Amino acid sequence: MLVSAKEMLDKAKAGHYAVGQFNINNLEWTKAILLTAEECKSPVILGVSEGAGKYMTGFKTVAAMVKAMDESLGITVPVALHLDHGTYDGTKACIEAGFTSVMFDGSSYNIDENVAKTKELVELAHKNGISIEAEVGAIGGEEDGVVGAGECADPDECKMVADLGVDMLAAGIGNIHGVYPDNWAGLSFETLDAIQQKTGSMPLVLHGGTGIPDDMIAKAIDLGVSKINVNTECQLVFAEETRKYIEAGKDKQGKGFDPRKLLAPGTEAIKAKVKEKMELFGSVGKA
Ligand code: 13P
Repeated sequence: MLVSAKEMLDKAKAGHYAVGQFNINNLEWTKAILLTAEECKSPVILGVSEGAGKYMTGFKTVAAMVKAMDESLGITVPVALHLDHGTYDGTKACIEAGFTSVMFDGSSYNIDENVAKTKELVELAHKNGISIEAEVGAIGGEEDGVVGAGECADPDECKMVADLGVDMLAAGIGNIHGVYPDNWAGLSFETLDAIQQKTGSMPLVLHGGTGIPDDMIAKAIDLGVSKINVNTECQLVFAEETRKYIEAGKDKQGKGFDPRKLLAPGTEAIKAKVKEKMELFGSVGKA
């Protein structure tokens, strides 16, 4: 069932668990995540970066595919189709294309411009019944070619943006997209605690979920994180299982070259990874 992310995140915040956002790249990814959410009776958020949207030939294609697949598979759990790290124009395009949730990432602007643009997009999203995420303080690492240093957000600026009526807030707390470097300092729980105290019941979003140790995830949820984004980990297990299949020469046995066979081990690996994360985040059985 395609829905805005608001209700599922408000419930997660109140219930002290987190909903996973898993990024999609194609049909296999989408199907794997939807089937796992249904099996786990868990709400889920499908994340689409602007780059992935372009790869899938545009936001309209993505919205049509997800809507049709959700119906064809008879998915009963709440599913939000969410733009990940949207630009100003990309956010508007997704609202138009039929996404049920968007993220406007204004973190590269100064705070006044971030506030002004976020405010405008909150009104537009809400007019269309769509939930909206905003960002304060850049998340480190590379996302669609944009490289951030991973700064910690200013809790006062977080409050300014939360007060605009956004439905969820991503705030940098030392988290990084992609695999964490060996010398990573870990999450700043001091910053997270200060942000949570300033923003109250606002669901907080933890980006860069790949590779964060389980105990840090638990503590982050404890301190108000209600949405956790995972992308790279699904890509890594998909690549790993696909490589094993080819290295074992299975594509050369019978009709093993059929894409439905070739992509099956990677797709199964995504399912297992998504299930593992849903269990870790505490969202199983919460649909
Ligand atoms: P990872 O690729 O590090 O899991 O981060 C995903 C993310 O935060 C998408 O916005």
